[in-house]
Amino acid sequence: MPKTVDDNFVFKKFALWLDKAKKQYDKLNMQNYNAFCLSSCVNNLPSSRMVLLKSFSHDGFTFYTNSQSQKGAEITENPNVAMLFHWNVLQRQIRVSGVCSEVSSNIADEYFASRPYLSKVGAWASQQSREMNGILELSKNVIYYSAKYPIDVPRPPYWNGYNIAASKIEFWVEKPARLHIRKVYEKISLNQWTEKILFP
Ligand SMILES: Cc1cc2nc3c(=O)[nH]c(=O)nc-3n(C[C@H](O)[C@H](O)[C@H](O)COP(=O)(O)O)c2cc1C
Repeated sequence: MPKTVDDNFVFKKFALWLDKAKKQYDKLNMQNYNAFCLSSCVNNLPSSRMVLLKSFSHDGFTFYTNSQSQKGAEITENPNVAMLFHWNVLQRQIRVSGVCSEVSSNIADEYFASRPYLSKVGAWASQQSREMNGILELSKNVIYYSAKYPIDVPRPPYWNGYNIAASKIEFWVEKPARLHIRKVYEKISLNQWTEKILFP
């Protein structure tokens, strides 16, 4: 029988690791400690890109993006995704698999409202993942939307938050001679996870 642990154990561990990464990145004056590689897959063709983790809870990990982007379209078609954090400066990685769904419009509105003005305008100006007619098209769009929304910028209807409800989380620590430590947690019920140690 594998050992079991509860939700608190797994998410506290995640929180401790993320916090350690933040402190180390701050110390080294590095940005994006919260960046992770997000992989989606349609028609058996995986695709990956970096996004920023904006919050997390026992219910999942949240990031924000344009729903009409490649990733947005792929997640709609297949909500099964994988996340990967790698902090070289800590010699650690965290690997997550789970199911992605849109957050409520209230949550997306609240987060959008907290963004800097130019990021909000950028969300209107960039038709993420679609072809541009030329490099100037984006600047023209920025000028257009800055004039349209000089103060209050509403959230574009296609700009959304996504929550990834994890079913599996692996914590990996680099050790000498490739004798790395891998601990994997798999969700077996609402609040219970199995803990297994894997060969590196
Ligand atoms: C460190 C880093 C963080 C990023 N964070 C985000 C993000 O939070 N949301 C986002 O839409 N794109 C983010 N991007 C850009 C994406 O990697 C990607 O280029 C964009 O979302 C389009 O991806 P897609 O065509 O697969 O949809 C980030 C890129 C980097 C390098």
